[in-house]
Amino acid sequence: MAPPQDPYTPQTFEHDARWTAVDKYVTSHLHNTIPSPASLTATLTNSSTNGLPDIAVSASQGKHLMLTARLISAQRVLEVGTLGGYSTLWLASATPTTRVTSIEISPAHAAVAEESLQKAGVGERTEVLVGAGLDVLPKLAAEVQAGKREKFDLVFIDADKENNWAYADIAAGMSRSGACLIVDNVVRKGELANDKTEDERVLGGRRVVENVGKDPRLDATVLQTVGEKNYDGFLFAVVK
Ligand code: DHB
Ligand code: MG
Repeated sequence: MAPPQDPYTPQTFEHDARWTAVDKYVTSHLHNTIPSPASLTATLTNSSTNGLPDIAVSASQGKHLMLTARLISAQRVLEVGTLGGYSTLWLASATPTTRVTSIEISPAHAAVAEESLQKAGVGERTEVLVGAGLDVLPKLAAEVQAGKREKFDLVFIDADKENNWAYADIAAGMSRSGACLIVDNVVRKGELANDKTEDERVLGGRRVVENVGKDPRLDATVLQTVGEKNYDGFLFAVVK
């Protein structure tokens, strides 16, 4: 048995000068508008000042999430794993009326995120629910079921990797047909394909890939990516 892992202990990042250079080049030419570079920087600074781990998505991944949400005019976004609100800010910037519901297990992290989101001007359109995903998601699902909350257009899962499938399963049940489901960090330096792995986080990635593949509600693929942080990748699914 692998030892239990603290979800906030970052994986050791693999750095490659080429990946970092391309991210820097791309960001300098393409990331000059919304959200404002100042609000993004302030959000990351607020996170590091408060001792949050440096494991938010990269700028290009954040912008990719925002553009994906914009493509489907996502008005209701669900995020599992707020951390300091960096990806939340990107997602909330998809359209002027996009609302993001984000779940965060750490009250301290949630407070940092709320402060940053408020300062970035999206506080009115974002809610951070404090609690474990496995406690909060069923409550949201019950609200959707009771007609008290509308179905989601896009879900971004970026929390403890062991529960990826449990989160994706509940999320799929409360997303509209045509909704998009994205799970961060499933490739993990290629370990995803290692069928001998005992790393619970990799196993969480394998479980979500294998179960999504058998799930008649979903159609999916995984896109491997490199960047300023690591060789990793999103699982990307559409709800049928
Ligand atoms: C880790 C978690 C993440 O969500 C991420 O994007 C990178 C690393 C981690 O826990 O190591
Ligand atoms: Mg992540």
